[in-house]
Amino acid sequence: MAKKETEGANELATAVEYNYPDIIRSALLKTNRDGVLDLISYMREIGFFEAPASGGNHSFEKGGLAAHSVNVMFCAEKIGVALLGGAAYNEIQESVIIAALLHDLGKCGDYGKQMYIPNMIKDGRPTKANPEQKYKQSEAKPWKRNPDLLPLDHATRSIKLATLFIDLTEEEEFAIRYHDGLYDTANYGVKGHETQLYMILHWADMWASRIIEGESEVEENE
Ligand SMILES: [Fe+2]
Ligand SMILES: [Fe+2]
Repeated sequence: MAKKETEGANELATAVEYNYPDIIRSALLKTNRDGVLDLISYMREIGFFEAPASGGNHSFEKGGLAAHSVNVMFCAEKIGVALLGGAAYNEIQESVIIAALLHDLGKCGDYGKQMYIPNMIKDGRPTKANPEQKYKQSEAKPWKRNPDLLPLDHATRSIKLATLFIDLTEEEEFAIRYHDGLYDTANYGVKGHETQLYMILHWADMWASRIIEGESEVEENE
């Protein structure tokens, strides 16, 4: 995954290799939520474990979405335990796992259409000898939004896809819907209604994408 070596003592940012699909499957299974097995099968079917997490900002390699989701879960756990203490954290642990691992589920797309497709750019110029324009996948931004998929925000799509299989609590739904926080101008509804789970998920997502995965710019608006 696109983790950068960091100056700090953040073990998540080291070159340790995790088996992200296994971590995700076992964490979701541990929640024992009705329908979770079918959800995991569906995640496999729609390419969750191979999808990138962004077009070219953070964790955009194959499997980046799974890696990002695990980073968010680990960060959320640290934030939750640090701020709430172990006993209080245990009470919301299941929701933290669900919210962290599913917050970006919508980045897999829907209706049989992937959200990210290869971003093909011109590869050189045609010549007299080779008049055909060649294309290659951009290295700087390997993926682009699929123009055939209507631009429903990915947080809303995450909720839709998850609830095809499992029930979400009101708090989980709220945290997932608003996980981009006030970085998204459509999210003003969150002001004054910040819950523990929302705050934990939002900052875990920010820490994972900006600090661990080294996002250098704001992700494209949706
Ligand atoms: Fe997201
Ligand atoms: Fe995210």
